[in-house]
Amino acid sequence: MLFVRTCKQAGFRFPFKTNVGLFQAAASTCGLSNVSIMLAQQADRVMALGEWEERWQEDRIGFHQPHVHKMLENHIDKVLAGRTGVRFFFPLCGKAVDMKWLADMGHSVVGVEISEKAIKQFFEDNNMTYSEEPVPALPGAKVFKGSERNISLYQSDLYNFSSTIGGHFGAIWDRGSLVAINPRDREKYAALIISLMAKDCRYLLDTMLYNPELYEGPPFLVPDDQVNSLFGKSCDVELLESFDSLTDRQRGWGLDYLDERVHLITPKSI
Ligand SMILES: C[S@@+](CC[C@H](N)C(=O)[O-])C[C@H]1O[C@@H](n2cnc3c(N)ncnc32)[C@H](O)[C@@H]1O
Repeated sequence: MLFVRTCKQAGFRFPFKTNVGLFQAAASTCGLSNVSIMLAQQADRVMALGEWEERWQEDRIGFHQPHVHKMLENHIDKVLAGRTGVRFFFPLCGKAVDMKWLADMGHSVVGVEISEKAIKQFFEDNNMTYSEEPVPALPGAKVFKGSERNISLYQSDLYNFSSTIGGHFGAIWDRGSLVAINPRDREKYAALIISLMAKDCRYLLDTMLYNPELYEGPPFLVPDDQVNSLFGKSCDVELLESFDSLTDRQRGWGLDYLDERVHLITPKSI
């Protein structure tokens, strides 16, 4: 890592103590910004698809919340902006109950999730019946369609999904998605998300900030500066809310602070 190499050359010894101040002072001596330092900590962390599947098989899904996410509830009016029957996209959807909440309101939902177990559990947990079909354009993938609600969940690697398969979306709810993908894939992820946005799309993005020296992720930290660099060229980015979301679960990971930050991202008008 550039940071480690540069700091070693500058005479700093590793590993650093878990003191962010010292760490940042050292880095600033090396001429690196706080954002680069924080990102460098997790840049090489890779979680394979098989590891996610293992988590589902072993029920290690502490990320799943049994209730509608507070930030989606708080900002739903801004996302809808007066529209009805909006097409929502859920990247890396898991079995988020938010999908049913939106479908119950008359919106349609398309999700993408690698784990078939997660998708089946979504329908079963919510007492919904579903059909299952292959997706000719996506060899090996399936789409699961709810019979009672307009919810279609693709069992696929997200990076094989595209607007050719799913069309464009009027809204996107990104919770546990940008923060869950491998940090090295962020540019590819942002390009895909932008390609799925309709002109009037309103994309609600939930990110996290914490000290990456204390926990390797996922979830990974995504600083605001990176949200701006990923989406700011073609979209307007507005920070809607930031709140302290540290619980005993994250204290158990070793974290001493955790801020969750919610952004509204909309395509720039031409
Ligand atoms: C942190 S969980 C979040 C799930 C959901 N968004 C939520 O808020 O509960 C990330 C999910 O993404 C799935 N996943 C990870 N990488 C994926 C990929 N490349 N394509 C599709 N699904 C993926 C995992 O199986 C997991 O269910």
